[in-house]
Amino acid sequence: MKDLKELLKEKYTDLAKQADLINPSSCCGGGTCSNTAALLNKGKDKNEADSGIKINFKKGNPIQYTPIQSGEVVVDLGSAMGHDCFIARNKVGDSGLVIGLDITEAMIKVANNSCDKHGFQNVQFRLGDIENMPIASQKADVVISDNTFRMLPDKKRGVSEIYRILKSKGRFCISDIFWKGTYSESALKAAEEWVGDMSESIPKDLFLSMLQMQGFSNIQVMSEEEIIIPDEVLLDFMSDSELVAFNKSNSGIFLVTIYGDKPDCGQCSSCTCM
Ligand SMILES: C[S@@+](CC[C@H](N)C(=O)[O-])C[C@H]1O[C@@H](n2cnc3c(N)ncnc32)[C@H](O)[C@@H]1O
Repeated sequence: MKDLKELLKEKYTDLAKQADLINPSSCCGGGTCSNTAALLNKGKDKNEADSGIKINFKKGNPIQYTPIQSGEVVVDLGSAMGHDCFIARNKVGDSGLVIGLDITEAMIKVANNSCDKHGFQNVQFRLGDIENMPIASQKADVVISDNTFRMLPDKKRGVSEIYRILKSKGRFCISDIFWKGTYSESALKAAEEWVGDMSESIPKDLFLSMLQMQGFSNIQVMSEEEIIIPDEVLLDFMSDSELVAFNKSNSGIFLVTIYGDKPDCGQCSSCTCM
């Protein structure tokens, strides 16, 4: 059987190719694409920008919650067609650097094409796995990631990689879908149907504890919004009585944006990040 990463690569390769075919001149693919100029000038509607991907929720916006200064190095994990990288580029200016990392070669290709078209010298797209990033230690001032982290089979490893590539006093902001409360196999299947890529999703509290254990400080939930799975979708996977229990349980899926700092390494004697 193919492993999850292979399946994800196939899915996102198809989406990248579709988007490129529908609108090869677009930065993010698809007929509804906001082009790079529009993104740079006006911000964005990511739900539109990532056309081709069926999503039943408003996506996150980690950049909104992360101060990014001119000249800084920003790394975007799961950069897809480069949408957030181009926004970040606008903030770091000519003297900064933006690195987008994605596991799907076709996504890297589409992102690189947009980058070439606009002549950005300081935006790079690298093929690689978040669990084993091809990025030097202490390279980044800021790490962002949207709508990707839940797909990682080994989130602890992903978290430790973020810690490794961040400079002392660097910061991260991650948006993704997390569970609250307990959930069953049938609820997981319904969530998979409604929002996709949920097989490795975990409870928010578990993720927060991973961040804490890693040594991040000032961890804050910046926003949190429930994604309602309609009853008719839940009923495709569970009985009437299970549905009643699920709706009473206060369990559910939430789009959560989490911010954190890497401590000042010079101040910490037992630090393993250097
Ligand atoms: C839903 S898209 C997110 C796109 C973008 N961040 C956004 O919010 O518009 C998820 C992306 O994550 C990538 N991805 C999934 N698992 C990954 C991993 N382990 N390492 C790097 N990229 C990964 C996929 O190839 C895909 O391009």
